[in-house]
Amino acid sequence: MKISIFGTGYVGLTQAACLAEVGHRVCCIDTDASRIAQLERGVSPIFENGLEALLQKNLAAGRLSFTTNAQQGVDFARIIFIAVGTPASEDGSADMRFVFSVADSIAARAHEQKLVINKSTSPVGTAQRIRDRILEALVQRGCNFAVQVISNPEFLKEGSAVEDCMRPERIIIGSDGECDVELIRALYKPFGRHHEKLIFMDSRSAELTKYAANSMLAAKISFINEIANLSERLGADIEMVRKGIGSDSRIGYDFIYPGCGYGGSCFPKDIQALLHSAGQVGYSAQLLEAVEDVNRRQKHKLFENIQRHYQGHLAGKTFALWGLAFKPNTDDMREAPSRVALEALLAAGTRVCAYDPEAMDEARRIYADAQHLTFADSKEAALEGAHALVIVTEWLNFRIVDFSLLRQALADRVIFDGRNLLDPVQVVGEGLGYYSIGRASGS
Ligand code: UGA
Repeated sequence: MKISIFGTGYVGLTQAACLAEVGHRVCCIDTDASRIAQLERGVSPIFENGLEALLQKNLAAGRLSFTTNAQQGVDFARIIFIAVGTPASEDGSADMRFVFSVADSIAARAHEQKLVINKSTSPVGTAQRIRDRILEALVQRGCNFAVQVISNPEFLKEGSAVEDCMRPERIIIGSDGECDVELIRALYKPFGRHHEKLIFMDSRSAELTKYAANSMLAAKISFINEIANLSERLGADIEMVRKGIGSDSRIGYDFIYPGCGYGGSCFPKDIQALLHSAGQVGYSAQLLEAVEDVNRRQKHKLFENIQRHYQGHLAGKTFALWGLAFKPNTDDMREAPSRVALEALLAAGTRVCAYDPEAMDEARRIYADAQHLTFADSKEAALEGAHALVIVTEWLNFRIVDFSLLRQALADRVIFDGRNLLDPVQVVGEGLGYYSIGRASGS
């Protein structure tokens, strides 16, 4: 099958590579000429496990092509995906400019029947709005063919985007009656070899499913962080509590890891957008408000622990900071908890030497003008001259530490762990102070 995809961000590009990998022919369209030129050379503009290899393989096989020419993109296929960004507007609502601009582009250029599939995370009612917009433009152009619009939200995670896309747990199809079910089945057949992954529903329910899924996951994280804060005050150990509740299959172990808050381009933005939608229909979504409030507070937790330890006397101290990305296996720092900790430390007059396995270029770009911030080439190098260590991201190789090196390198012999990567008894036994999340501190 031939498919066009507007947008070469995480969602569009991963989807394109995976659709090509299973044998479809895919044309990607983006307005960013340098990005398209890069992609044509087989270079991925984003760091994502396995993505570049898939791009190169399918480019070479002639199943993948890239263009900035919208007409070429519209003419290429009957199936057209919209996979562009829906960033937060100032009032928290999703900025739908890019989605509607692609819809208008399709409406102005289509010469035959099309199936438009919206993959961008979009407020409830968007598929209907896209459809109305396109149909109105077609009437004005005097066209006598139809364009169908369906909602097909994406659930991939950064860091495992290719894997999630190749082996989806479900594929949500939101259609308002006009969808060609057999065409959709044929499109996604290679992704559901063992059992049917498609769940059909109306477009509004599909759009809300996406927001509900992200809100539910964020709620689990804020819930465990709330219990962690209580745990600390009540003298309990959140890691024990986590295991205790996770063993209940109705609760499960996933997404109940306590920490210094969730970040990323999705949870914070999507909850804000859903809150905005709730406000528009006169509903006060109190639980969603609380999920975000708890998270905002939790992002300050590391700095609070640091201040508590030093009783506010931070000026002149140097901190080694491990982890800048909002989570492991990505270089993405959008809404990352590291930014809150780092900025608070710099504002308090300290020096910070940071290390991240992937996000150093991004950090250098964001903090190009920051004084008293330096970057190290390795986690060990970041410790040189530091008084204390701050761990922000749960990268696997931060779990293994050389205690004798830490004892020798850290002048104040203390670790502030925002992800509970270490065993408190062991750390204290090794002669270091240790602050983590939801567990007693020790020194
Ligand atoms: C999230 C969802 O998990 C995806 O299903 C969704 O498709 C995606 O948003 C999206 O809407 O595009 P992502 O933002 O890539 O994916 O990252 P997650 O793996 O969900 O992690 C988000 C944050 O939560 C990270 O900062 C992570 O450190 C934190 N987290 C996660 C915790 O603090 N505790 C946990 O138990 C799990």
